[in-house]
Amino acid sequence: SLFKGKSKMIALFVPDIMNPFFPELARAVEDISNKHGYTFILCNTDNQNDKEITYLNALLQKSIDGIILVSSTMTTSQVKDMKVPLIALDRKINPNLISVTVNNYEGARQAVQYLKKQGCKRIAHISGPENISNARERFRGYLDEVRDEEWFNSDFICVGNYAVNDAFEATKKLLQSNPEIDGIFVANDLMGVGVLKAAESLKIKIPNELSVIGFDGIELGNITSPSLTTMAQPIYNIGKRAAEILIQKIEHPNTVIKSEEHKVKLITREST
Ligand code: RIB
Repeated sequence: SLFKGKSKMIALFVPDIMNPFFPELARAVEDISNKHGYTFILCNTDNQNDKEITYLNALLQKSIDGIILVSSTMTTSQVKDMKVPLIALDRKINPNLISVTVNNYEGARQAVQYLKKQGCKRIAHISGPENISNARERFRGYLDEVRDEEWFNSDFICVGNYAVNDAFEATKKLLQSNPEIDGIFVANDLMGVGVLKAAESLKIKIPNELSVIGFDGIELGNITSPSLTTMAQPIYNIGKRAAEILIQKIEHPNTVIKSEEHKVKLITREST
């Protein structure tokens, strides 16, 4: 069907409304949408492609003007056939769809370099799901920092799901079977909270016996005890840029727009 638009509405799809990263992102998209005279709709998809498709169809019927996707489940053919302006945010969908992301690979390398500088000699990684582009990039960054170390061992890698509970269980197993681990780079802050809890339940002292660094920079990491060192993403700013670019695409369809990669920044706290 032909794209009509002109509802003056913009939607943001997020994969997990329970993760504080996404409300922070939504805050920015809403602010910028409103500032330009658009109403804002938030759709929580639970990482499920069928929910994404249901929402998409409903929004197209309402002549939505544009959509920002945080998705690891939309397929290339699903986005290619869409007539409505789209932007990928935080997670790339394919190289042809304009995206606003951060430098996940470099950020991960910096995180591991920082742990090394703190004196860590056995560094483990709790990764995000393999189907998420940024989780793969963070994993690659970790691996490029550790693969040539004589201590490196593939038992130091475990795959998490970007949520607290999984990381709690995974970390308990990891530390029980590899007590020599003295540093963990966790692929997001929410799992970092699970790591802190696991260490506490095993009576491992942070940071004396174990240093932990997360990724994201959500406010929650500042409240935990110990507070969580992290590679902070400019969360508000990437949401803002995605909204600005989408509005540009809606209002001036012929201007050339480019993907953007923003920088992450180390915030040191008590966990390292
Ligand atoms: O914490 C949520 C994670 O999923 C973040 O690291 C973010 O980059 C997203 O993809």
